[in-house]
Amino acid sequence: MSSARRHLVSIDDLSLAEIKSLFEHAKRFAEDLRGFAKVCPGLISASLFYEPSTRTRLSFESAMLRLGGGVLTAADMRATSASKGESLADTVRVVSGAYADVIVLRHASEGAARLAAQYSAVPVVNAGDGSHEHPTQTLCDLYNLWLERGRIEGINVVLAGDLRYSRTIHSFVYALARFGANIVCVPQPGFELPAYVVQRLREEFAVEPVRADATRLGDLALASDAVYLTPQKPHQLSLFTDGGKGLAVGRVDALYMTRPQTERFKGDDLPIQKYQQLSKREMSVESLRDAVVMHPLPRRDEIQPDLDEDPRSIYFKQAARGVPIRMAILAFLLERIDLGVPAHSLDARYYPAPVGENPCRNTTCISRTETRHVRALYRLAARFPIRAHCAYCSHEIVAPLVGCTTTRHAHFFDSASARRIRPDHMVFFASEAEAAAAGYAPAARAAAAT
Ligand code: NCD
Repeated sequence: MSSARRHLVSIDDLSLAEIKSLFEHAKRFAEDLRGFAKVCPGLISASLFYEPSTRTRLSFESAMLRLGGGVLTAADMRATSASKGESLADTVRVVSGAYADVIVLRHASEGAARLAAQYSAVPVVNAGDGSHEHPTQTLCDLYNLWLERGRIEGINVVLAGDLRYSRTIHSFVYALARFGANIVCVPQPGFELPAYVVQRLREEFAVEPVRADATRLGDLALASDAVYLTPQKPHQLSLFTDGGKGLAVGRVDALYMTRPQTERFKGDDLPIQKYQQLSKREMSVESLRDAVVMHPLPRRDEIQPDLDEDPRSIYFKQAARGVPIRMAILAFLLERIDLGVPAHSLDARYYPAPVGENPCRNTTCISRTETRHVRALYRLAARFPIRAHCAYCSHEIVAPLVGCTTTRHAHFFDSASARRIRPDHMVFFASEAEAAAAGYAPAARAAAAT
């Protein structure tokens, strides 16, 4: 399994310096889109799209063709052996053999790209995995901000719409936090950022959600509980004035709108009475005077056509820029350009969960949908008390008991004795009964018996 090659599964797979270097390369490619056909001749990219796509697939394929490479496409997976029950792991093993030099994968299950990367002999690009991440859309979005605003550090970005299921938002928010942008969330009520995303922002990027006063955003934020995501540094806070009711949103640099991801809604989601909408009227408030309007597209009614000709609307330009940034991504992963910065040292805190039940409870995680090939894998977020996330979908692993595979004792996740378990010996249990069934004795009793 696996190779030492770079994959692009999460936006965290790239350092900020690498991301900025990709922007420089994309800019160079954009200046002469037809002038780089000698970068990837003889190389082939395979598009494996288990979900619909217009921009992502076509811009990747255009990018590969413009670099002088070739493209294989499986865009209707019902016409492939997937419909005969072939697993993603097997498909990837075959396609990454002699068929292709890079795989661009879109899949409905969260964590699919991480699984694919484990089985692929060539780089895997995550072109969207369920509602989890969409790192190349984020690179496109950041590239747009960098071109339009000249920087990302310290700019004020408002995120609106369905923040719960939009994978573009999740990758974007991690990257914005790392760049030190100021983020204001004005979600559609009931579609706030998921808990696991907020947790990750807290744990890894020291970002705390603070209630924001978004009255200056006018009708857009009328029904929303606006939240300001702040890196805990005082100089960041000073960019916002205290409006008495919380941090007031002042001048906005970019407003990022998203559609309702209806295809991902679950039974317990609030019915949507009236979805947020942007039109000339909403955009007439002073705080949005200079804000560029962005959208990953496709849009439905959340951006009215009367805004299309507004100079602040950049969503079509944003989509066009998907080609040069994807040329840079492919050329980098295929080792045809040098980013000129040290390679990002990747997070090594991934451990296989050696035995027992799969501890991930997220029903849309690849570890639950493709059980034949998935080895439960987790990321340790904190040692005391123990906090771990599923390495595929990033959801928190809720496990009150953590076993040690060498002593076969089960410890409470927040007990002092649990501190001694080596991460590669940890196994997670939802209950004492589950631990006992796997042959793990509760730590206290086991200690008394010895
Ligand atoms: C997005 C996606 O597929 O997540 N589209 C895209 O890649 N540009 C956004 C969406 O479908 O709403």
